[in-house]
Amino acid sequence: MTNFWLIPDNEKRIDDLIDKMTLEEKIGQMTQLSPSIVGGFDLPFPELIEMLTEGRIGQEEFKKIMQNAEMDYREDQIRAGKIGSFLLNNPTKANELQRIAVEESRLGIPLIFGFDVIHGFKTVFPIPLAEACIWDEDIFAQTARISAREARSHNIHWAFSPMLDVSRDARWGRIAESPGEDPFLASVYARAKVRGLQGNAPGADDHVAACLKHYIAYGAAESGQDYNTVSMADSLLYNVYLPPFQSGVAAGAATVMSAFNDYNGVPCTINEFLLRDLLKERLGFAGFVVSDANSIDDCIRHGSTADLEEAALKSCLAGLDMDMNSHAYSTYLKKLVEQGDIPSELLDDAVRRILRIKMGLGLFDHPYVSQEKMSLYDVLPDEHIELARETARRSIVLLKNEDNILPIDQSRRVALIGELADLPEEVVGSWAMGFNVTDCVSIRQGLLNAGLEVFYEKTCGVASPFDPDELQRAADRADVIIAVVGELISMSGEAASRADISLPGQQETMLKAALKTGKPVIAVLMNGRPLAIPWLKDHVPVIVEAWQLGIQMGNAVADVLLGDYNPSGKLSCTFPAQVGQCPRYYNHPSTGRPGAKSKFSSRYLDAPLEPLFPFGFGLSYTTFSYDNLKVEQTADQVLASVEISNTGKYAGEETVQLYIQDITASLVRPVKELKAFTKILLQPGQRTTVSLAVPKAHMGFYNNTMDHRLEDGAFNIYVGTNSRDCLQERIDIAF
Ligand code: GLC
Repeated sequence: MTNFWLIPDNEKRIDDLIDKMTLEEKIGQMTQLSPSIVGGFDLPFPELIEMLTEGRIGQEEFKKIMQNAEMDYREDQIRAGKIGSFLLNNPTKANELQRIAVEESRLGIPLIFGFDVIHGFKTVFPIPLAEACIWDEDIFAQTARISAREARSHNIHWAFSPMLDVSRDARWGRIAESPGEDPFLASVYARAKVRGLQGNAPGADDHVAACLKHYIAYGAAESGQDYNTVSMADSLLYNVYLPPFQSGVAAGAATVMSAFNDYNGVPCTINEFLLRDLLKERLGFAGFVVSDANSIDDCIRHGSTADLEEAALKSCLAGLDMDMNSHAYSTYLKKLVEQGDIPSELLDDAVRRILRIKMGLGLFDHPYVSQEKMSLYDVLPDEHIELARETARRSIVLLKNEDNILPIDQSRRVALIGELADLPEEVVGSWAMGFNVTDCVSIRQGLLNAGLEVFYEKTCGVASPFDPDELQRAADRADVIIAVVGELISMSGEAASRADISLPGQQETMLKAALKTGKPVIAVLMNGRPLAIPWLKDHVPVIVEAWQLGIQMGNAVADVLLGDYNPSGKLSCTFPAQVGQCPRYYNHPSTGRPGAKSKFSSRYLDAPLEPLFPFGFGLSYTTFSYDNLKVEQTADQVLASVEISNTGKYAGEETVQLYIQDITASLVRPVKELKAFTKILLQPGQRTTVSLAVPKAHMGFYNNTMDHRLEDGAFNIYVGTNSRDCLQERIDIAF
């Protein structure tokens, strides 16, 4: 049991409080609601949503309408102690509601305000899929630290992050929010984010409660279709999808959010095996579980409960502590307890967990935020902006750089084409909601800031046609063409799965025409998922994966293109060669007929076997050589050492990766599993020996009854610059 939030004095105060609480007040603590929209515009809200969904009104128009909407902030319910948490991003209103809860309700229990602070708040950092390409626990924690500081100053006590869904399918829109496909990297990310958000001890008023989501295996939604069903062997859950949550719980995460999907036929929200047995009992989770938005109600459409009352019953019995927005608990729990269907002890446990976090956050002692604190970050501090730029630069992955066209000299005249190059609001990616667009630097602006002579022509939109005249106009005046291509924010994130993961619209047509001008072409990708871009890989000389890097995107891209920063990012996810390969990931079992040239092997008739770019891949402006891998073992570790040289002419950072393969085991094991990595900086010509250690306890796996197996036998140890290009040694281990 992690003791981060278990503070003896608080537990005593909670005992006393629970003894005084009525059944209604307990249910109130288990209820999270949002302000309800009651009008202020001509149409019923559902119809407005339908119009937005069908594209009959755009995002901007919808936002304008919503700004004038009349909201019901449920003051009476708060005063009656019927709400324990609010999903809100409005610091002044939060203080008003908090004052009602603390000063006008019978027991004065403060509200906990939650909000989606996923990859920054006012300072927006790269989308998680991009940040994970940095492979650096410290910077993962730093960005979370800044996010927490800004959110808490805005009266947000609880961030619905980190999202920890291991994602192997590029069709799934929420891969953008994930730390990628690898459980080890995602576990490093998880503990860093929890520590960054929550600090080293509860109580500080510039930290927030973390929320591990979405529990669990949401990233395995069948066919990459959001909200779709999830079925798998329990051993796959334990070995791939659970580790980041284990890591987050061990780091002291305050909360966990149940996922929308079912797990082997039982929705996560009412899944007692997942919530009580595995999370609370086996992992010793001492915080509280919140449902995803309305996911209790979703159980009816899952076909798992006949109605909302049964959904409330099954959720509470399963160990779901707080209901986000479905009204199931506030409507039915009282009746269910009074008629004996739910033991009141279950509510006491849920309330204890919730009060534990509220007290640990200091909300009972400091429930309000001063006006001065609210405006702390109205102007972003230089420290925040610099970290945003540093994180953005380091998230960039250089996928191709033929003839070393990059870095470009500042004297080069640049034709900049592509709609995305000049849309500052598009740099932040999905789930960015606290920022000011005036803080966003587009790629066009970044290149101008760097002093380049830039001739910009939109030339082709993500969804609008290619205009050859605009291309020609820009190309005629330039030495080099920079084409920014990719996806709009709306094409990834929640409810944004794509069955075709190629470049949308006529962007590839634009690139073909750009190549025909005879000028060197640099493709800069702005996207929220791996894209199937085989033609680009074969024909475009330079490809820079720039993701959606947050507010400093433009400056970071300029830093890399001009060589002020030597790119060092390593892919957190595999790039499939085409969508038909999805789901595509490096740590797959070998099968009895590993893919090869022969027909009777695991391969396609009409697609390549290999992905376009493998997990862990990323080039530099310099080159590195790996030699002399040596592997030895002690009683409890495997030790690998390798000599690495910088064989190029730039100083560069390299992420050295160590993978293992358990060659023969009682369950089929992946051909490679990441188990350690480290980053080194080498000057041109410099050579060093890098050592990596793997505890032998980490070389096992869980079977289907969650027994941890360490099986004697032969292992391959791989050390290299990505999951494909490695040196290999074999070692026999007796555990
Ligand atoms: C959404 C998302 C979840 C988010 C929640 C609150 O549907 O699934 O990640 O935290 O609702 O906005």
